[in-house]
Amino acid sequence: MNHFLSTAELSRDDLGSLLRSAAQYKAGRRQTGELAGRSVALVFLNPSLRTRASMQIAVYELGGNPVLIEPGATSWSIEYRENVVMDSDKTEHLAEFVRVLSRYVSAIGVRTFAEMKNWELERTDPVLSAFARYATVPVINLESAMHHPCQSLADMLTIRERYGEERKRVLLTWAWHPKALPMAVPNSFALAAAQCGHDLVIAHPDGYGLDPELMHAIGTHAELNGGSVEVVNDPEKGFEGADVVYAKSWAPPPFYGRPDAVHSAEQRDKWIVNADKMALTANGVFLHCLPVRRNVIATDEVLDSPNSLIIDEAENRLHVQKAILASLVK
Ligand code: CP
Repeated sequence: MNHFLSTAELSRDDLGSLLRSAAQYKAGRRQTGELAGRSVALVFLNPSLRTRASMQIAVYELGGNPVLIEPGATSWSIEYRENVVMDSDKTEHLAEFVRVLSRYVSAIGVRTFAEMKNWELERTDPVLSAFARYATVPVINLESAMHHPCQSLADMLTIRERYGEERKRVLLTWAWHPKALPMAVPNSFALAAAQCGHDLVIAHPDGYGLDPELMHAIGTHAELNGGSVEVVNDPEKGFEGADVVYAKSWAPPPFYGRPDAVHSAEQRDKWIVNADKMALTANGVFLHCLPVRRNVIATDEVLDSPNSLIIDEAENRLHVQKAILASLVK
């Protein structure tokens, strides 16, 4: 089964092909109707604005019918674990949920965030994996515990729109946030940047490193594609000469299973993206996946500057998802 769970299995050519297709959808040069007479299930276990709206619209504009399902709200709550006695709060097992949906639809999109309870388990993306295991139609990851590949494709398209296919110095910088957030977005951004052959700098406080296995894959992709990877623990150094600044907060593994854990208050001012830091870049552009907490992750001045591409980036979710859907169901 041809699923879209992360970009890890895609070659640089595959990525390039999806990005070209997305650009064509954006330019309006592609025929619609790829999903005519078909339905796509969109399963949301967590809140969303961009992913939900852009997927519904993508399916609609390709001629298909989006079927929105919210387990635990507008459909039954779901269990994913194998061999459990279901005498608690979960009503339906994915074994039935996914196989039944597979009889109705041509693809299943699923959003399932990390619960941030058990790092060793959640780093394996257990819920998304269960969807993929039971589905007999393609599964599209709409953000899981470890990956957000639709977002990272939109990020890469936004960078290409500004710079073409040139190798660029791309900074992924951690930012303070009042809540502990999962790693899906930084994971997928770093991976895709390496796959596109950029010179990637990852800046985060000491102890906030991404998953070591993923970092190994990122290094391998960077080497294979003519780019590089550097990790710095200094909140300013990575900005020097950067063409792209991508800000995102995340919590490292020791935060998992500790619901009261918070980032230290002194990190807040140190790691915010402000005009002084952006002035160190090579007139770099600013990206964020949104939603963004203004004047916490980045200042109003940065978010509203001409170099901020956050709205283009959000728009590009629609175009890349059309490309993904069309490639999976063709
Ligand atoms: N970037 C993103 O996935 O936004 P939503 O959470 O609103 O879908």
